This record gives sequence, structure tokens and C-alpha cells, in this order.
Amino acid sequence: MKIVFAMSLLVTLSGCIAEAKDQKADGAENYALMCAGCHDPGPGHPATMLLQQAGRPVPALIGRKDLELEYLRAVVRQGLIEMPPFRPTELSEAEIDEIYAHIMRGKPSKPATAIQTTKDP
Ligand code: HEC
Repeated sequence: MKIVFAMSLLVTLSGCIAEAKDQKADGAENYALMCAGCHDPGPGHPATMLLQQAGRPVPALIGRKDLELEYLRAVVRQGLIEMPPFRPTELSEAEIDEIYAHIMRGKPSKPATAIQTTKDP
């Protein structure tokens, strides 16, 4: 009887593990979770605002065509001025690559009107 119980427990547990694997966040979900708060288009997103100030043609990350994978990997791992770095325990190399693919698939947003430092006189 004990063995039957142990076996059924094992089956249940392995089922849970398989389920957890299936539910692993993909590039779009990780982007939404880790990057969108700062990098989405429009006002209220600090990275978009700073990148617009730096003169990027599309200040939001989604839809950028000029981003190299190696550059994005380096920025994510090391941070960049105001951007915090991400540890491998937060995002694996594969997850960074998936985020990159998600960004490349996205349609460019309209140039953000996030910044209005001065009003027209
Ligand atoms: C806390 C806000 C914040 C988060 C979260 C964040 N970033 Fe950033 N990121 C920034 C800021 C701000 C800059 C612009 C650097 C500056 O001028 O300070 C930036 C710059 C970048 C750049 C360089 C763009 C360029 O044109 O040079 C890349 C690439 C980038 N981020 C990718 C990501 C990715 C991918 C994620 C998610 C894993 C992410 N960032 C999460 C704030 C953030």
C-alpha cells in the first residue's frame, strides 16, 4: 500500500514539474515583466524618454531595427547609466535571446512624445 501511495505521489509530482516547464515565460512575457515598465512607448517610461533625448529614431525598444543582439546582451548584463543590470539568475542567456527576438518581431511605435522639456513660446 505504501508503495502504491509513493508511486502515485511520484506521478503527481512529475506531472507538476512538467506543467511548470510548460508554463515557463516566453520572450514576450519576460519583456512585459522585466523591460516594458521602462521601455514601452509613450509617456511615463523613463528609458523611452532618455533614449529619445539621446536621439534614437524609435525610442521604445519594440520595433527598433538597429539593435544588435550582442549589444543588447551587454546592456542587459552590465546595465547602462540609469538602467540596472540583470543577473543570470534573473534572466538566462536563452531568455535574453527570446526577449531580443520579441523586440525584433515588434512593429515600430510612433516616435514617442514622452518628452516635453520646454513648451513652445
Ligand atoms: C528601471 C528601468 C529599466 C529597465 C527595467 C530596463 N531598462 Fe533598458 N534602459 C533603461 C534606461 C534608462 C536606458 C537608457 C540609458 C540611459 O540613458 O540611462 C536603457 C537602455 C537600454 C538599451 C540601450 C538602447 C540604446 O539605444 O542604446 C537596451 C538595449 C536596453 N535598455 C534593453 C533592456 C532590456 C532588454 C530590458 C529588460 C530585460 C531592459 N532594458 C530593462 C532603463 C531600463
